Amino acid sequence: MKIAVLGSGIMGSGIAQISAMAGSEAYAYDVAAASLANAQEGIQRSLSRLVRAEKMTEAESQATFDRIRFTQDLAEAVSEADVVIEAAPEILELKQELWRAVVLHAPVSALLGTNTSQLSVTRIASCLDDNSSRLVGIHFFNPPVMMKLVELISGINTDPAEIERASEFAHYLGKEVVVCRKDSPGFITSRAYAILRLECVRMLEEGIATAEDIDKALRLGFNFPMGPLELGDMNGIDTYVHALTGLAEAHGERFRPTVGLKNMVAAGRLGRKSGRGFYGYDREGRRESNSDS
Ligand SMILES: NC(=O)c1ccc[n+]([C@@H]2O[C@H](COP(=O)([O-])OP(=O)(O)OC[C@H]3O[C@@H](n4cnc5c(N)ncnc54)[C@H](O)[C@@H]3O)[C@@H](O)[C@H]2O)c1
Repeated sequence: MKIAVLGSGIMGSGIAQISAMAGSEAYAYDVAAASLANAQEGIQRSLSRLVRAEKMTEAESQATFDRIRFTQDLAEAVSEADVVIEAAPEILELKQELWRAVVLHAPVSALLGTNTSQLSVTRIASCLDDNSSRLVGIHFFNPPVMMKLVELISGINTDPAEIERASEFAHYLGKEVVVCRKDSPGFITSRAYAILRLECVRMLEEGIATAEDIDKALRLGFNFPMGPLELGDMNGIDTYVHALTGLAEAHGERFRPTVGLKNMVAAGRLGRKSGRGFYGYDREGRRESNSDS
């Protein structure tokens, strides 16, 4: 199988890697040479870790890497593709422009998937006119090499047969699938998790418990690998507020970001990346012992 992955950032490089690990020829396409160079390095590092963990041999790692071609030529990437996955920045117009170019070069038989985490698949597909029924939301999780889940999203016009093909493709990559049958902001996963974290934020702001205890309660009480607040610091508080604002527009007041969250963004407390969020971090990114609350 030939798999073209468009955008070689955090997600695209991982998706190209798992495609090659499954035995496919993968094309990693990007507009930026620097992103392609980073992707090469990142994939090599990830494969070395898998070798050290005895999940694959050195020879398998090399063969996997050799199955990936890095290119800045879109036509080269997609012209023989069986599957095209777009993992370009989360900007509607940018994705639409890219998809319009893809359908000019890709075979009509190719499965088309967008890895958007919260844009409407229907809106992205609306630029494709007669091809709009081909686009499926194929939402991988970060990091794609580790995370088992793929969330499939059906746009209003998506052909059910394409959802079926996307499901087979995800299984081929060794993933499990859930289907969001109606294109709806936040799909299943982001919508459920956003509100759970928001309730944790409200409890923190009401002084009901410390950030440490809220995270610990969810980790030890429900087997979450990470608490919602510490994970929020990793993902970025600005990203979270942005997502909540979109969700509130679609689903109502219950998703409205709190004043406290908006203040955190205004004050530059964006989480790990700025050294301070729900928790404080030292220069090496290590968490300081007490939460900021
Ligand atoms: N980061 C996550 O945790 C995560 C998880 C699931 C889904 N997503 C979604 O995946 C997509 C990509 O996110 P990311 O975190 O990998 O972003 P990223 O910024 O790490 O990577 C995006 C890449 O796209 C490239 N790019 C820019 N314009 C392009 C174009 N016109 N054509 C092709 N490539 C172009 C950039 O050079 C960059 O390398 C977004 O839609 C995002 O919402 C992200």
